[in-house]
Amino acid sequence: MSQDEIADLLAEAEELLENCASAEEVEALRVKYLGRKSALTAILRGLKELDADKRVEVAREANLAKKKIEKWLAEAKQKVAAAPRQVTRIDHTLPGKRYPTGKLHLITRTVDDIVDIFYGMGFEVALGPEVEEEYYNFGALNFPPDHPARDMQDTFYVADDVVLRTHTSPIQVREFQKRKPPVRIIAPGRTYRQEAISARAYCVFYQLEGFYVDHRVTFADLKGVLTAFAQQYFGADVKLRFRPSFFPFTEPSAEVDISCFLCQGRGCRICKHTGWLEILGCGMIHPNVFEAVGYDAEEYTGYAFGMGIERIAMLKHKIDDIRLFYENDIRFLSQF
Ligand code: DAH
Repeated sequence: MSQDEIADLLAEAEELLENCASAEEVEALRVKYLGRKSALTAILRGLKELDADKRVEVAREANLAKKKIEKWLAEAKQKVAAAPRQVTRIDHTLPGKRYPTGKLHLITRTVDDIVDIFYGMGFEVALGPEVEEEYYNFGALNFPPDHPARDMQDTFYVADDVVLRTHTSPIQVREFQKRKPPVRIIAPGRTYRQEAISARAYCVFYQLEGFYVDHRVTFADLKGVLTAFAQQYFGADVKLRFRPSFFPFTEPSAEVDISCFLCQGRGCRICKHTGWLEILGCGMIHPNVFEAVGYDAEEYTGYAFGMGIERIAMLKHKIDDIRLFYENDIRFLSQF
């Protein structure tokens, strides 16, 4: 090994030892530079083969290098012993990672919540087709042939006598045809109307129909069931108000308002300062509907009601535009 090579070796050893971070690293370098297989050991072992004059010179050179390396090793050892041990510190108080979770659409949740309440009162769930025969949507429900609701402007016609159902009431007719009383059913579903789209009206919306037919079913039963529903869904203090109304398939008919649960009836923006919120239509099923399905109107009576799901959800959650339900903007949906 030449003097230059020894100098290079020393420079390398000095730098590596200066940058040692652990006792293991220092030991590895000791083996590398002073171990049995190191270059320096080879030089010292080979001294006896050299000429006497050369031998002295090389021996001095090599021993000097060895001393230097031993000194650096000692220094490095001291340094790593004094240095604080490197530990990975974990902050247990940091919040965990949040992964986005999916959830049910507010309409689905509203339907589920309402269905739950009626299920608890003995109602079964039934569904019907969204593409519906005109007969079920109108005729069997006692809509006269010239009723304005049948108009092309209100109803989406798929064919001459097939429509996209404009309400969930045709499910009444389908279920009456399938069963004999007692029949106690709630029927949620999507409905369609050709309307000018606005904050209050959309071409697609959800309704929930309810009906009960048996011996001696009265308007008082209807009031009881709707009161129980409204108080469970909107709050125990809610009052109901039945206003006379008209539907072709019920007689008598009523629209139901609940006392505004936001202002306790004092008057606010949501109830338009009336203290009341309209939530549904209802009535006693018309004998003509019973006749259409072959029920004896002398033997049975029944009530029916229908509510708009979006309207209920809008009231409950103070949502002021029905279109939000259908735009699927995650910033809106994720709030519920
Ligand atoms: N089908 C009616 C509508 O869409 C709502 C309705 C009113 C349903 C009275 C009923 C009822 O069952 O008895 O406006």
